[in-house]
Amino acid sequence: MRKQYKFISKNENTTKDFAKKFAKLLNKNDVVVLTGELGSGKTKFVEGFLSNFGLENEISSPTFTIVNEYKNVNTTIYHFDVYRLEDSSEFHEIGGEEYFEKGICLIEWGELIEDALPKNYIHITFEKDDKDENIRILNIDLPDSFNINLLNKLEV
Ligand SMILES: Nc1ncnc2c1ncn2[C@@H]1O[C@H](COP(=O)(O)OP(=O)(O)OP(=O)(O)O)[C@@H](O)[C@H]1O
Ligand SMILES: [Mg+2]
Repeated sequence: MRKQYKFISKNENTTKDFAKKFAKLLNKNDVVVLTGELGSGKTKFVEGFLSNFGLENEISSPTFTIVNEYKNVNTTIYHFDVYRLEDSSEFHEIGGEEYFEKGICLIEWGELIEDALPKNYIHITFEKDDKDENIRILNIDLPDSFNINLLNKLEV
């Protein structure tokens, strides 16, 4: 049984703040898939996430590189954007799965390589709001092992 959590973000900064706090709840080999249309906030989420580790100033979009590495003394984070990959076999060819063992992996458009992903990944879906251009709905789908109380206690 997977678990669900919904977060409604009222603007870009709220998304970043939520992501920063969410980052504290993860372990070093977690994989997070970020799904949502262009401009739905996936990269903003990654920025906030990195800021928890003091890595926020270094973000560059991996649009042309597939994966960027961010590192401090304690933590390694890999930020993927797999939008341009054909399928999971192309992910395999670039050695994508090897990163799962090496640090936290945040994968924009990760649903495109679903069959290369470990079973217990965290899946965040970003939805835009019809009426307000600054609202995003984040639907978070988590493995059963995740302690959802920690999320319920987050104050954002
Ligand atoms: N609540 C919100 N959360 C995040 N971003 C927001 C929000 N409201 C407005 N925005 C704007 O939406 C855009 C989100 O851009 P971002 O690069 O994060 O999208 P993306 O999902 O990574 O797109 P792509 O698929 O092209 O990589 C930014 O311009 C940001 O300012
Ligand atoms: Mg992006």
